[in-house]
Amino acid sequence: MLRNTLLWASTNPFLAKKLPTYRFVQRATKRFMPGADLDAALVEAKALAANGVTTTTTLLGENLVSLDEADRVVDHYVGGLKEIEARGLDVEISVKPTQIGIDFGVDEARKRLGQIAASTTSLVWVDMESSEYVDRTLDIFRTVKEEQGNVGLCIQSYLHRTEADLQALMPLQPDIRVVKGAYNEPPEVAFPKKSDVDRNFVKLSQTLLRARLGGSAGRPVFGTHDPNMIGEANRIALELGLEKDRHEFAMLFGIQRDEQVRLARTGHKVRVLVSYGAAWFPWYMRRLAERPANLLFVAKQLVR
Ligand code: FDA
Repeated sequence: MLRNTLLWASTNPFLAKKLPTYRFVQRATKRFMPGADLDAALVEAKALAANGVTTTTTLLGENLVSLDEADRVVDHYVGGLKEIEARGLDVEISVKPTQIGIDFGVDEARKRLGQIAASTTSLVWVDMESSEYVDRTLDIFRTVKEEQGNVGLCIQSYLHRTEADLQALMPLQPDIRVVKGAYNEPPEVAFPKKSDVDRNFVKLSQTLLRARLGGSAGRPVFGTHDPNMIGEANRIALELGLEKDRHEFAMLFGIQRDEQVRLARTGHKVRVLVSYGAAWFPWYMRRLAERPANLLFVAKQLVR
């Protein structure tokens, strides 16, 4: 129930406007977000690199009111990618389809994803948002992947459809980040039980790791903090005889920091997603919904 309340709050425009004005809320976000701009994210990326951990970064912000805003997002990422290159950092970016205009038409988002990908040689990740966007997101990913190559896609193990979607994508040899899924979805669309979401996560991991065995598949990335999922991916890779560095783990900034470093020190590839930007409220509510125990942390900030 608490999870549903937090997910409801994540979509409430009044709360999104009001809560971020409180100092205690701003303080609490620091745990998951080093700062509001790209520079703060890149400073953190440099610190993470010292521990052998690489970074993906993302500008927070979701549905837009105009295509001008989508153009500003493209300019921001194109400029940001130049800055990343200038600083010599191993930092990739991850983009939300709603931030690049998908609500205004698939063509608008496809064009803008292509513009961002064309400005860099590094991989541009495409986030997966709520289920209403899945078809359109697959569409823009597929086209830009076929035309330009350097895009990767996030898929969600809580969706019933994902296994079939992944099978259909495999001929493209895609770079895939598997996550469990962060949105409030009805049972017709997503597995309501965690055990089913986990089982599907392992199944998808197996598909990606088996494909990796042949040597031609894209990067399999497991975006999870769940020790069981991490253990399963490592177990499958070991059984298949894959070297440790043939798959990757991705975690969110500020979550399971010790595990991030431990994995990197034991020869695994680890990438941390560092978010920044003024429009952090819906994203932050989804993080609290994943682990309501984090509310305690917010409450402590309130008391302080
Ligand atoms: P799960 O939520 O089942 O938790 C398992 C364990 O992990 C917990 O018991 C706890 O120990 C730890 N844990 C998990 N979340 C925590 C938290 N917030 N604080 C502290 N501990 C925590 N989703 C989406 O729908 N679209 C997307 O594009 C992305 N992209 C993305 C990228 C990356 C790099 C990551 C890591 C995650 C995403 N997600 C996402 C979010 C994802 O769908 C999911 O909601 C979270 O990763 C939480 O699920 P876990 O697999 O971590 O495990």
